[in-house]
Amino acid sequence: MTSGDYEAPARMVAPARALYVPVILGTVRRGRMSLPVARVVLAELSRRPDIDTELIDLAQFPLRVDDAGEATKDAGFSEKMSRSDALVLVSPEYNHGYSGLLKHVLDSCLKEYVHKAVGVVGVSAGPFGGSRGIEDLLPVLRELGLAAIFWDVNFSTVQNAFDESGALRDQAYLPRIGKFLDELVWMATTLRHGREQVAMPQAESPMRCPKCGAEMNHHAEKVLQAVDLADRSSVDPALGGVVEELHSCPACGANASRRATARG
Ligand SMILES: Cc1cc2nc3c(=O)[nH]c(=O)nc-3n(C[C@H](O)[C@H](O)[C@H](O)COP(=O)(O)O)c2cc1C
Repeated sequence: MTSGDYEAPARMVAPARALYVPVILGTVRRGRMSLPVARVVLAELSRRPDIDTELIDLAQFPLRVDDAGEATKDAGFSEKMSRSDALVLVSPEYNHGYSGLLKHVLDSCLKEYVHKAVGVVGVSAGPFGGSRGIEDLLPVLRELGLAAIFWDVNFSTVQNAFDESGALRDQAYLPRIGKFLDELVWMATTLRHGREQVAMPQAESPMRCPKCGAEMNHHAEKVLQAVDLADRSSVDPALGGVVEELHSCPACGANASRRATARG
Protein backbone atom coordinates (compact mmCIF):
# COMPACT_ATOMS: atom_id res chain seq x y z
CA MET A 1 0.00 0.00 0.00
CA THR A 2 1.37 3.41 -0.91
CA SER A 3 0.74 6.48 1.14
CA GLY A 4 -1.67 7.63 -1.60
CA ASP A 5 -3.91 4.60 -0.79
CA TYR A 6 -4.35 5.63 2.81
CA GLU A 7 -7.84 6.68 3.81
CA ALA A 8 -8.17 8.47 7.11
CA PRO A 9 -10.60 6.68 9.45
CA ALA A 10 -14.08 8.14 9.40
CA ARG A 11 -14.64 10.57 12.23
CA MET A 12 -17.44 9.89 14.64
CA VAL A 13 -20.41 12.02 13.69
CA ALA A 14 -23.41 12.96 15.76
CA PRO A 15 -25.79 9.99 15.78
CA ALA A 16 -29.09 10.28 13.91
CA ARG A 17 -30.86 9.40 17.15
CA ALA A 18 -29.69 10.24 20.65
CA LEU A 19 -27.91 7.43 22.45
CA TYR A 20 -29.97 6.13 25.36
CA VAL A 21 -27.67 5.47 28.33
CA PRO A 22 -29.52 4.87 31.62
CA VAL A 23 -27.71 4.85 34.97
CA ILE A 24 -28.66 1.89 37.18
CA LEU A 25 -28.30 2.47 40.91
CA GLY A 26 -27.43 -0.98 42.19
CA THR A 27 -28.57 -0.91 45.81
CA VAL A 28 -31.65 -0.26 47.93
CA ARG A 29 -29.72 0.13 51.22
CA ARG A 30 -31.01 2.87 53.50
CA GLY A 31 -28.46 5.68 53.63
CA ARG A 32 -26.73 4.38 50.51
CA MET A 33 -23.80 6.53 49.41
CA SER A 34 -24.15 5.12 45.90
CA LEU A 35 -27.08 7.55 45.45
CA PRO A 36 -25.04 10.81 45.38
CA VAL A 37 -22.49 9.01 43.20
CA ALA A 38 -25.22 8.03 40.73
CA ARG A 39 -26.53 11.60 40.75
CA VAL A 40 -23.11 13.03 39.86
CA VAL A 41 -22.62 10.57 37.01
CA LEU A 42 -26.16 11.23 35.78
CA ALA A 43 -25.53 15.00 35.82
CA GLU A 44 -22.30 14.60 33.82
CA LEU A 45 -24.05 12.33 31.32
CA SER A 46 -27.03 14.71 30.99
CA ARG A 47 -24.67 17.54 30.10
CA ARG A 48 -23.55 15.77 26.93
CA PRO A 49 -25.18 16.36 23.54
CA ASP A 50 -27.07 13.54 21.84
CA ILE A 51 -27.49 11.56 25.07
CA ASP A 52 -30.81 10.54 26.56
CA THR A 53 -30.41 9.28 30.12
CA GLU A 54 -32.29 8.63 33.35
CA LEU A 55 -31.69 7.10 36.74
CA ILE A 56 -33.05 3.59 37.23
CA ASP A 57 -33.19 3.21 40.99
CA LEU A 58 -33.63 -0.34 42.29
CA ALA A 59 -35.45 1.12 45.30
CA GLN A 60 -38.21 2.31 42.95
CA PHE A 61 -38.22 -0.96 41.07
CA PRO A 62 -41.07 -3.51 41.26
CA LEU A 63 -38.65 -6.10 42.60
CA ARG A 64 -39.79 -9.73 42.48
CA VAL A 65 -38.01 -12.15 44.77
CA ASP A 66 -40.27 -15.19 44.31
CA ASP A 67 -38.39 -16.43 41.24
CA ALA A 68 -35.17 -15.75 39.31
CA GLY A 69 -33.99 -14.89 35.84
CA GLU A 70 -36.28 -13.96 33.00
CA ALA A 71 -39.29 -15.25 34.95
CA THR A 72 -39.01 -12.04 37.01
CA LYS A 73 -38.87 -9.74 33.98
CA ASP A 74 -40.53 -6.35 34.41
CA ALA A 75 -41.94 -5.07 31.11
CA GLY A 76 -40.85 -1.48 31.75
CA PHE A 77 -37.28 -2.45 32.66
CA SER A 78 -37.10 -4.83 29.70
CA GLU A 79 -38.20 -2.05 27.34
CA LYS A 80 -35.53 0.27 28.74
CA MET A 81 -32.79 -2.34 28.43
CA SER A 82 -33.87 -3.12 24.88
CA ARG A 83 -33.83 0.60 23.97
CA SER A 84 -30.48 1.23 25.66
CA ASP A 85 -27.22 1.69 23.74
CA ALA A 86 -25.11 1.50 26.89
CA LEU A 87 -25.54 1.11 30.64
CA VAL A 88 -23.80 2.76 33.57
CA LEU A 89 -23.90 0.52 36.64
CA VAL A 90 -23.31 2.16 40.01
CA SER A 91 -22.08 -0.79 41.97
CA PRO A 92 -21.42 -0.70 45.73
CA GLU A 93 -18.89 -3.14 47.16
CA TYR A 94 -20.49 -5.49 49.65
CA ASN A 95 -18.15 -8.01 51.35
CA HIS A 96 -15.65 -7.81 48.49
CA GLY A 97 -18.37 -8.53 45.95
CA TYR A 98 -21.13 -6.77 44.05
CA SER A 99 -24.67 -6.13 45.18
CA GLY A 100 -26.81 -9.28 45.05
CA LEU A 101 -29.90 -7.24 44.23
CA LEU A 102 -28.16 -5.65 41.25
CA LYS A 103 -27.35 -9.11 39.91
CA HIS A 104 -30.92 -10.31 40.56
CA VAL A 105 -32.36 -7.42 38.54
CA LEU A 106 -29.81 -7.73 35.72
CA ASP A 107 -30.63 -11.45 35.48
CA SER A 108 -34.25 -10.58 34.61
CA CYS A 109 -33.21 -9.72 31.04
CA LEU A 110 -30.79 -11.29 28.59
CA LYS A 111 -31.26 -10.70 24.88
CA GLU A 112 -32.00 -7.04 25.66
CA TYR A 113 -28.30 -6.50 26.51
CA VAL A 114 -26.53 -8.14 23.59
CA HIS A 115 -23.89 -5.98 21.86
CA LYS A 116 -24.48 -3.02 24.20
CA ALA A 117 -21.71 -1.20 26.08
CA VAL A 118 -21.48 -1.12 29.86
CA GLY A 119 -19.34 0.86 32.28
CA VAL A 120 -19.14 0.34 36.03
CA VAL A 121 -18.79 2.95 38.77
CA GLY A 122 -17.52 1.25 41.93
CA VAL A 123 -18.38 2.65 45.36
CA SER A 124 -16.87 1.60 48.67
CA ALA A 125 -16.25 2.79 52.20
CA GLY A 126 -12.77 1.30 52.03
CA PRO A 127 -9.80 2.40 49.95
CA PHE A 128 -10.32 0.29 46.81
CA GLY A 129 -13.22 2.15 45.22
CA GLY A 130 -15.40 -0.91 44.72
CA SER A 131 -12.79 -2.45 42.42
CA ARG A 132 -13.15 -5.94 43.90
CA GLY A 133 -16.89 -5.89 43.21
CA ILE A 134 -16.26 -4.58 39.69
CA GLU A 135 -13.81 -7.38 38.90
CA ASP A 136 -16.35 -9.95 40.11
CA LEU A 137 -19.08 -8.35 38.03
CA LEU A 138 -17.17 -8.50 34.73
CA PRO A 139 -17.76 -12.20 33.91
CA VAL A 140 -21.45 -11.73 34.70
CA LEU A 141 -21.69 -8.79 32.30
CA ARG A 142 -19.93 -10.79 29.62
CA GLU A 143 -22.40 -13.65 29.94
CA LEU A 144 -25.25 -11.15 29.60
CA GLY A 145 -23.82 -10.17 26.21
CA LEU A 146 -22.68 -6.73 27.37
CA ALA A 147 -19.32 -5.31 26.28
CA ALA A 148 -17.53 -3.86 29.32
CA ILE A 149 -15.37 -0.80 28.72
CA PHE A 150 -11.83 -0.57 30.11
CA TRP A 151 -12.42 2.60 32.09
CA ASP A 152 -14.02 2.44 35.56
CA VAL A 153 -14.76 5.17 38.05
CA ASN A 154 -13.77 4.29 41.62
CA PHE A 155 -15.27 6.15 44.56
CA SER A 156 -13.15 5.08 47.55
CA THR A 157 -13.87 6.26 51.13
CA VAL A 158 -17.08 7.55 49.62
CA GLN A 159 -18.33 8.74 53.02
CA ASN A 160 -15.83 11.61 52.63
CA ALA A 161 -16.56 12.41 49.00
CA PHE A 162 -19.72 14.48 49.52
CA ASP A 163 -20.64 17.28 51.92
CA GLU A 164 -23.83 17.39 54.04
CA SER A 165 -25.80 18.86 51.13
CA GLY A 166 -24.75 15.97 48.86
CA ALA A 167 -22.34 18.14 46.83
CA LEU A 168 -19.16 16.55 45.53
CA ARG A 169 -16.13 17.65 47.60
CA ASP A 170 -13.32 16.39 45.39
CA GLN A 171 -13.65 17.92 41.92
CA ALA A 172 -10.95 15.55 40.61
CA TYR A 173 -13.71 12.99 40.15
CA LEU A 174 -15.21 15.04 37.30
CA PRO A 175 -12.43 14.56 34.71
CA ARG A 176 -12.27 10.87 35.64
CA ILE A 177 -16.01 10.55 35.00
CA GLY A 178 -15.49 12.51 31.79
CA LYS A 179 -12.88 10.06 30.46
CA PHE A 180 -15.07 7.12 31.48
CA LEU A 181 -18.06 8.60 29.63
CA ASP A 182 -15.96 9.43 26.54
CA GLU A 183 -15.05 5.77 26.24
CA LEU A 184 -18.58 4.57 27.00
CA VAL A 185 -20.09 6.85 24.34
CA TRP A 186 -17.49 5.72 21.78
CA MET A 187 -18.30 2.08 22.49
CA ALA A 188 -22.05 2.74 22.45
CA THR A 189 -21.79 4.54 19.10
CA THR A 190 -19.60 1.84 17.57
CA LEU A 191 -21.71 -1.05 18.84
CA ARG A 192 -24.90 0.63 17.63
CA HIS A 193 -23.33 0.83 14.18
CA GLY A 194 -22.44 -2.85 14.38
CA ARG A 195 -25.87 -3.94 15.60
CA GLU A 196 -27.61 -2.05 12.84
CA GLN A 197 -25.17 -2.47 9.93
CA VAL A 198 -22.84 -5.46 10.38
CA ALA A 199 -24.53 -8.80 9.79
CA MET A 200 -23.56 -12.24 11.10
CA PRO A 201 -21.99 -14.40 8.35
CA GLN A 202 -24.96 -16.79 8.40
CA ALA A 203 -27.58 -14.02 8.28
CA GLU A 204 -30.45 -14.89 5.97
CA SER A 205 -34.21 -14.38 5.69
CA PRO A 206 -34.23 -10.97 7.36
CA MET A 207 -36.81 -10.03 9.94
CA ARG A 208 -39.05 -7.05 9.37
CA CYS A 209 -38.91 -4.43 12.08
CA PRO A 210 -41.99 -4.74 14.32
CA LYS A 211 -41.99 -0.96 14.78
CA CYS A 212 -41.31 0.52 11.31
CA GLY A 213 -41.33 -2.42 8.90
CA ALA A 214 -37.76 -1.89 7.63
CA GLU A 215 -35.44 -4.85 7.01
CA MET A 216 -33.52 -5.62 10.19
CA ASN A 217 -29.86 -6.59 10.61
CA HIS A 218 -29.10 -10.01 12.17
CA HIS A 219 -26.12 -9.13 14.39
CA ALA A 220 -25.86 -11.87 17.03
CA GLU A 221 -26.95 -15.26 18.26
CA LYS A 222 -27.19 -16.23 21.90
CA VAL A 223 -27.70 -19.66 23.43
CA LEU A 224 -30.35 -19.42 26.14
CA GLN A 225 -29.64 -21.96 28.88
CA ALA A 226 -32.26 -20.86 31.38
CA VAL A 227 -35.37 -21.13 29.23
CA ASP A 228 -38.09 -23.63 29.86
CA LEU A 229 -36.74 -26.61 27.96
CA ALA A 230 -40.05 -28.49 27.95
CA ASP A 231 -40.07 -28.05 24.20
CA ARG A 232 -36.99 -30.17 23.49
CA SER A 233 -37.45 -29.73 19.75
CA SER A 234 -36.10 -26.18 19.94
CA VAL A 235 -32.91 -27.20 21.78
CA ASP A 236 -29.84 -27.23 19.55
CA PRO A 237 -28.21 -30.60 20.40
CA ALA A 238 -24.69 -29.35 19.64
CA LEU A 239 -25.01 -26.14 21.67
CA GLY A 240 -27.12 -27.47 24.57
CA GLY A 241 -29.69 -24.71 24.60
CA VAL A 242 -32.12 -22.71 22.54
CA VAL A 243 -30.45 -20.44 19.98
CA GLU A 244 -31.96 -16.98 19.79
CA GLU A 245 -31.22 -14.65 16.87
CA LEU A 246 -30.85 -10.95 17.66
CA HIS A 247 -31.84 -8.37 15.06
CA SER A 248 -31.62 -4.57 15.08
CA CYS A 249 -33.34 -2.08 12.83
CA PRO A 250 -31.07 0.34 10.91
CA ALA A 251 -34.02 2.67 10.35
CA CYS A 252 -35.46 3.16 13.83
CA GLY A 253 -33.06 1.26 16.14
CA ALA A 254 -35.65 -1.20 17.44
CA ASN A 255 -34.43 -4.61 18.55
CA ALA A 256 -36.19 -7.92 18.03
CA SER A 257 -35.35 -11.59 18.37
CA ARG A 258 -36.57 -14.98 17.27
CA ARG A 259 -35.64 -18.60 17.76
CA ALA A 260 -33.07 -19.76 15.23
CA THR A 261 -35.38 -22.65 14.33
CA ALA A 262 -37.80 -20.07 12.89
CA ARG A 263 -35.18 -19.20 10.28
CA GLY A 264 -35.95 -19.93 6.71
C1 LIG B 1 -23.20 -5.81 53.55
C2 LIG B 1 -22.13 -4.77 53.35
C3 LIG B 1 -20.85 -5.17 53.07
C4 LIG B 1 -19.85 -4.23 52.85
N1 LIG B 1 -18.61 -4.65 52.51
C5 LIG B 1 -17.65 -3.75 52.18
C6 LIG B 1 -16.37 -4.17 51.72
O1 LIG B 1 -16.10 -5.34 51.58
N2 LIG B 1 -15.44 -3.24 51.44
C7 LIG B 1 -15.71 -1.88 51.55
O2 LIG B 1 -14.84 -1.08 51.26
N3 LIG B 1 -16.93 -1.46 51.96
C8 LIG B 1 -17.90 -2.36 52.28
N4 LIG B 1 -19.14 -1.93 52.67
C9 LIG B 1 -19.40 -0.52 52.73
C10 LIG B 1 -19.98 0.00 51.41
O3 LIG B 1 -19.05 -0.17 50.39
C11 LIG B 1 -20.35 1.45 51.61
O4 LIG B 1 -21.56 1.50 52.33
C12 LIG B 1 -20.40 2.27 50.34
O5 LIG B 1 -20.97 3.50 50.69
C13 LIG B 1 -21.20 1.69 49.19
O6 LIG B 1 -22.41 1.13 49.58
P1 LIG B 1 -23.79 1.96 49.78
O7 LIG B 1 -24.18 2.55 48.47
O8 LIG B 1 -24.76 0.94 50.27
O9 LIG B 1 -23.50 3.02 50.79
C14 LIG B 1 -20.15 -2.85 52.92
C15 LIG B 1 -21.45 -2.46 53.22
C16 LIG B 1 -22.44 -3.40 53.41
C17 LIG B 1 -23.84 -2.95 53.66
